[in-house]
Amino acid sequence: MTAPGLKLGPIEVDPPVVLAPMAGVTNIAFRSLCRSYGAGLYVSEMISARALVEDNDNTLKKAGFGPDEDVRSIQLYGVDPEFVAGAVRKVVDDLGVHHVDLNMGCPSPKVTRHGGGAALPARPRLVGRIVEAAVRAAGPVPVTVKMRVGVSPRHETFLEAASAAVDGGAAAVALHARTAEQLYSGTADWSRIAELKAHVTSVPVLGNGDVWAASDALRMLAETGCDGVVVGRGCLGKPWLFRDLADAFAGRPLQGPARLGEVVEGMRRHLRLLVEQFGDEGLACRDFRKHVGWYLTGYPAGGERRRRLALASTLAEYDALLDELDPGEELGAGLEAAPRGHTHGPKEVTVPYGWLSPASLASDAAPGREADAWTSGG
Ligand SMILES: Cc1cc2nc3c(=O)[nH]c(=O)nc-3n(C[C@H](O)[C@H](O)[C@H](O)COP(=O)(O)O)c2cc1C
Repeated sequence: MTAPGLKLGPIEVDPPVVLAPMAGVTNIAFRSLCRSYGAGLYVSEMISARALVEDNDNTLKKAGFGPDEDVRSIQLYGVDPEFVAGAVRKVVDDLGVHHVDLNMGCPSPKVTRHGGGAALPARPRLVGRIVEAAVRAAGPVPVTVKMRVGVSPRHETFLEAASAAVDGGAAAVALHARTAEQLYSGTADWSRIAELKAHVTSVPVLGNGDVWAASDALRMLAETGCDGVVVGRGCLGKPWLFRDLADAFAGRPLQGPARLGEVVEGMRRHLRLLVEQFGDEGLACRDFRKHVGWYLTGYPAGGERRRRLALASTLAEYDALLDELDPGEELGAGLEAAPRGHTHGPKEVTVPYGWLSPASLASDAAPGREADAWTSGG
């Protein structure tokens, strides 16, 4: 299959594959690792617009890019048009960012409770104001928006919010085809992506949710007509998914599942990239622990060894344990598209009292500062 081109403003994304922003995961190290397997667009972790504007040290560190990142893509989260515009100006002017994505799908109760995250698209006029402010501040840099279907099946917002984003100047809209209430449970309803594609005709529509293998990406494009895919959990512990995606979109045969030796090689590279990024071996080793289970999903690695790997705190410890694994071992049969990462939910979404009333839906007012609380997840 030859993929149609995906353009986000002046950026050509070929193959039409985007690494989903994932808090705590898509840092410089992981982006670099993924990009080494295939082309595409690699988005940063979510960065709080307000924290960035206020020069929060941690946030500034998180917002960094590696020297090899010739297309710098960042995801910002904010609920106040002024702070979002300030953050956009900063990342464009100071960090030389080429693409800004706005997070409007975070289901964390910490922010939805105050009207932020996935609760925000319930105010399409506010979405429009935020996007407009971001687009004005971005100049020629394209601004995209990532959202969910809505708060719940009773309160779907994506069509109206997407229209508002497009009217505000968004260069593309990405849809995670679940409601906030679903969190990560069940399956993404790709028919909603098709609906969005029929609804938004002037800019590209990106589909997101449950691309576990390259064949899923091709199927998503074929079934929904979307212009590109956003890949999240499928690449956790499987950065070579981007190689498969590049091969699949180019019509080349796939290389087949990695043997355990390639997995171990990927783990060692990932860990070393984290050490380089953090400049702190202990911190990198602790951060890497969450990746261990994802990498070893479907491989015979032994329960005791997995436990010890998930507790390792030095490179030497990791290396010694990884040396014990048999590089010739194969992935278990039928596990090529095994889910990994979050699968929790559903859970009722808390929004401010009256947030979904007709008067509130028609409002363009930004929620209070509490909705800007730094959080992780999307
Ligand atoms: C660990 C983790 C962190 C996430 N963090 C963010 C985030 O910061 N911003 C965002 O828009 N989505 C975030 N998401 C959601 C993903 O970008 C994506 O929309 C979701 O996982 C569905 O896609 P998938 O089925 O390909 O994983 C996160 C998901 C996971 C698993």
